Amino acid sequence: MSERLEDIAAAMVADGKGLLAADESTGTIKKRFDAIGVESTPQSRRDYRELMVRTTGAMRECISGVILYDETIRQNAADGTPLIDIIKATGAIPGIKVDAGAKPLAGFPGEKVTEGLDGLRERLAEYHGMGARFAKWRAVIDIDVAKSVPSGASIATNMHALARYAALCQEAGIVPIVEPEVMMEGDHPIETCFEISKAALLRLYGELYGLRVRLEGTILKPNMVIAGKKAARQAGPEEVAEKTIGLFREAVPAAVPGIVFLSGGQSEVEATENLNAVNAIGPHPWKVSFSYGRALQEAAQKAWGGKAANVAAAQQAFAHRARMNHLAALGQWRP
Ligand code: 13P
Repeated sequence: MSERLEDIAAAMVADGKGLLAADESTGTIKKRFDAIGVESTPQSRRDYRELMVRTTGAMRECISGVILYDETIRQNAADGTPLIDIIKATGAIPGIKVDAGAKPLAGFPGEKVTEGLDGLRERLAEYHGMGARFAKWRAVIDIDVAKSVPSGASIATNMHALARYAALCQEAGIVPIVEPEVMMEGDHPIETCFEISKAALLRLYGELYGLRVRLEGTILKPNMVIAGKKAARQAGPEEVAEKTIGLFREAVPAAVPGIVFLSGGQSEVEATENLNAVNAIGPHPWKVSFSYGRALQEAAQKAWGGKAANVAAAQQAFAHRARMNHLAALGQWRP
């Protein structure tokens, strides 16, 4: 496969394909396993992630890349095959989460800044040697209008960090996924999500330009424009699609090859339905697809429940969601 950043980025958003976000940190995967009554150990985490990447048919058809966590990229399957080799054998590209998580932003109570720049150059070189060809860094932007959150400072700091990460990735021959996630928590209306997302994206592209990041070799992973979870009025898929694409037309340069959504707490069906609505009003200047964690895995986790006897049922559930999102990435999903 070509090592050019633009070719890797194009392959990440090949027609009808998207990313499996399996990069839950140890703390986050423990929460997911707690919900299904499974003890989180290196082996249970391996077994679970192995079953997904061994869902060969759906992986080949629907998944262009898998975002891994540091522990997972070093793990072998039960038969000793490195998980990374199983992923590559399906035609998918291995990727790696490289941020060190969102920490409290000093001086701005209630706001966060994502850390992980120290030593990043060396870590990227190691991951490249292991076979990773793209990376992910997630910035967290909370909305709390009554408290004037987010502040301009938290947007500026987080977008600058994303640009420094992206520049280091490209130096290492790795495509950066830049993820400025505006959170769904809260009761704010969809218009507020639009405005905050717009401020974040405009700042992000200013910072990327300033640090000489080549947009052709990047992928954007944004939230959809959507009302807060507790908002009285929830917008339907057509409105979500129209506002989301309206935002991207204002704030995402056409040089960006692909936009892959996070699911952010939407239900599995909602995430598929909204992605489909976005592609149904295409074509767009960029490919628009998925990079879902929860919205690809929730049913599979429930079906698995930590039992070897349930692996086939879990794989079936995972394959189903992957296929529904494959159709949505083409704008061909029907309820
Ligand atoms: P969700 O789709 O569960 O939001 O996870 C995607 C992700 O990678 C967030 O960083």
